[in-house]
Amino acid sequence: MKTLRDFNFKNKVVLLRADLNSDVKNRRIILSERIKQSVKTIKQLKKKGAKVVIVAHQGRPGKLDFLSLKQHGKFLNKFTKVKFVPDIVGKKAEKEIKKLKSGEAILLENIRYEKDEFKPEKGKKNKLYRLVELADIYVNDAFSVCHRKQASIVLFPKYLPSFAGPLLEKEINALKKIEIKNCLYILGGAKPRDNIKLLKNNKVLACGLFGQLCLIAKGKDLGAQNKYLQKQIENFDRIIKKLKNKLRNVETPLDFAIKKGNKRVELKLDEFPSKYEIFDIGSETIKRYINEIKKAKAIYMKGPAGDCSDKKFAKGTFSILKAVSNSKGFSVIGGGHLSDAIESSGISKKKFGHISLSGGALLNYIAGEKLPGIEALNKSKNRNLS
Ligand code: 3PG
Repeated sequence: MKTLRDFNFKNKVVLLRADLNSDVKNRRIILSERIKQSVKTIKQLKKKGAKVVIVAHQGRPGKLDFLSLKQHGKFLNKFTKVKFVPDIVGKKAEKEIKKLKSGEAILLENIRYEKDEFKPEKGKKNKLYRLVELADIYVNDAFSVCHRKQASIVLFPKYLPSFAGPLLEKEINALKKIEIKNCLYILGGAKPRDNIKLLKNNKVLACGLFGQLCLIAKGKDLGAQNKYLQKQIENFDRIIKKLKNKLRNVETPLDFAIKKGNKRVELKLDEFPSKYEIFDIGSETIKRYINEIKKAKAIYMKGPAGDCSDKKFAKGTFSILKAVSNSKGFSVIGGGHLSDAIESSGISKKKFGHISLSGGALLNYIAGEKLPGIEALNKSKNRNLS
């Protein structure tokens, strides 16, 4: 895999696939570690004299966090000059790309607004192929999206000389060092489907929406939260069915925190079904999980235990992170939301083995799967480079 050190980018139009996908509250993007870290790569490419075209996504079609990248552009601009272009492959985008001078950068609109992002198999007939025609080089700096077979991940490197960006390189190098055998898995977050792959022999502490789904799969009725999850989680019924016979090694929450008149109130499991939605795990669960963490030789944690955008409900996540940071075992932390939580918890990042900006991609990697984005980079033929 070639890296930014291997080429002279001066005056080259570089399609930079970054991951700027961030938490959203009331349709406002929260400045994330992913955005801050991507700034370093953008600055590096600008310094090398490249004409940088940033391609990124926010959310998934149909979800509340599926938003324009305009706000991301504003954040990037606080650190380095980047012009936001509200277009992807139309006339506006084309004009701005052609206008770029060495050392300048633009950010295109949410790449997932273009349906062809999800159809890489269309090859040269894919609408996004126009970006390939306008660019000289592709740089993938989005390890966290490398498990997706999407055009900006697998189509661009098929046709362009391609390089791994510094963030992607850092992730790969760190993960190479990690041997995760007999590892304790703490699985939370709001994207539960991927977690199922890890439910084999390792011990699992379930939290976040995933923990709630595991309880439902065990037959528990959580009341209002059941309804919320049915609406929120894609393929809810299928996931519950899949989970049913995979919970042998999975510990589930013993209590939860709900919001009553804007206050945190804890309810034991037998107080459910409740008319209140769930926002965090409760104190009993925290205590129980911390005991398990103390015994662990290696820990992989993915996704927060509750809604960390509200301080009252960050207690579960912060307490677990604190216990992980004090563990003697090697720890790997995954998921953009969790790296943001570490930032706001005030726990020193140095106390963790490796903090990944990635959730699902890291999980697939740990589950031993090949990542299409990495495969595509490895296959990319960097011939005729000058
Ligand atoms: C992530 O948040 O894990 C990455 O940005 C990938 O997002 P996705 O799961 O919506 O593909």
